[in-house]
Amino acid sequence: MDAATSLLLRLDSRASTPLHEQLFEGVRTRILSGALPPGLRLPSSRQLAVELDVARSTVLQALDALAAEGYVVARAGSSTRVAPELPIAPEDRARSAAPRVSRGPRLASSARALKSSPVGAPRLGAAPRAFRPGVPALDLFPTALWGRTVTRVHARASTGLLDGGDPAGHAPLREAIAAHVATSRGVRCVPEQVFVTAGTQQAFDEVLRLALDPGDAVWLEDPGYPGARRAVLAAGGRPVPVPVDAEGLDVGAGIARAARARVALVAPSHQYPLGVTLSLARRMALLQWAERTRAWILEDDYDSEFRHRGRPLTALQGLDEAGCVVYVGTFSKAMFPGLRLGFLVAPPPLVDAFAAARASTIAPASSLEQAALAVFLAEGHFGRHLRRMRVAYRERGEALLEALRADCSGALTPRPCDTGMQVSASLTSPLSDLRVRDEAARLGVEVAALSDYFLGRRRESGLVFGFGGVRPEAFRAGTRTLARALEAAR
Ligand SMILES: Cc1ncc(COP(=O)(O)O)c(C=O)c1O
Repeated sequence: MDAATSLLLRLDSRASTPLHEQLFEGVRTRILSGALPPGLRLPSSRQLAVELDVARSTVLQALDALAAEGYVVARAGSSTRVAPELPIAPEDRARSAAPRVSRGPRLASSARALKSSPVGAPRLGAAPRAFRPGVPALDLFPTALWGRTVTRVHARASTGLLDGGDPAGHAPLREAIAAHVATSRGVRCVPEQVFVTAGTQQAFDEVLRLALDPGDAVWLEDPGYPGARRAVLAAGGRPVPVPVDAEGLDVGAGIARAARARVALVAPSHQYPLGVTLSLARRMALLQWAERTRAWILEDDYDSEFRHRGRPLTALQGLDEAGCVVYVGTFSKAMFPGLRLGFLVAPPPLVDAFAAARASTIAPASSLEQAALAVFLAEGHFGRHLRRMRVAYRERGEALLEALRADCSGALTPRPCDTGMQVSASLTSPLSDLRVRDEAARLGVEVAALSDYFLGRRRESGLVFGFGGVRPEAFRAGTRTLARALEAAR
């Protein structure tokens, strides 16, 4: 093979990359592109130093590195040649390690639908800030007390507990939950109907897996909780948006749209995000429809323990005579979301099906955390914490409405807020709530856009505020900033 008379390289003495590295990279690239073919004799180091106007030591350094990586072969007393067989360049190595089929295995249609479903409002950082919806008053949670309870339970754990226990859930916790929902929510059940879950979302998954065949219709509140929509898509169901008005889910509209739906997923006590309550007439209509068509009602009772004023409304489950309702509760709000503990109450005819499903999966929650929670409930700490939270949410809800009145009264009409830790408000002028949300985020305030919660075409422009996770002192700063965002979005 003839010698290369020149490498046709130019080095830049002013660049920050050292000259020997520039030479190394230049030669390597030309070898990989084939411009310097295998076996080609390179000019001598002396010749190269003259040609490139650099010190010979620079050339030798580059040639040594090229030889070390296998791009050139240098023999003592002989010329340096391009290696007859080239090593794999790091970028080619990465390419060859990646699967050659660029699109990968085909996703199930349910997974494709899930991938293209919106993921909700953007979060500004990890810490809760005004006015991120869905965050409880974590600043008021008795962390030290909970820590002591966990430590005590862990220290005294029996081998049975360490082994994992009952896949349906830790028996004392099932008992404590059954007692709690009977007294506070009017749920009628025995502990055997209670299945401990890793929160609402896992309860949805479990119920939908038992209820749906691929493509089955599910009524979803519109607007509604995005987690519900995602669970339906993940289970291969077909979401059917059903409008929500001042009386809650419009049962007649649901029947008109999909009378044969297999499941109605509702939050009757405190609809999210509008905050309305399902009227008694609608509750009866929903139960009658489910009984007639043998459909399931999935009752999401995520935050109704936090009724600020008035008599607590009992759960829909308490009215169910036909065994159609699966009641779902969570400790994400009453304790903290990271706990990942919740529960479902199966109707008597379905207890065996849920037990069988549990036998074929792993238990969804740590037995030790369940045991600690059972102690927390049994010793009355949970009840005391709930009572304190109710007062705190009333105060925080009032403080937010006050701050909104002071700073944004012309622009927003808040809905009444007597439960939970969020409030929704409609925009009085025809502004895009997405624009307001993005402007607010730019200025450091988090609000959710109401239109983001709609599945169907009917979209209302408004904002959803969480007031649970933020101290009331921070509200005015938040609403003043929001007022600027409203101005900027005009
Ligand atoms: C409507 C609704 N249901 C349930 C939950 C709780 O979900 P999880 O128990 O999975 O944390 C939330 C939380 O924001 C919610 O907004």
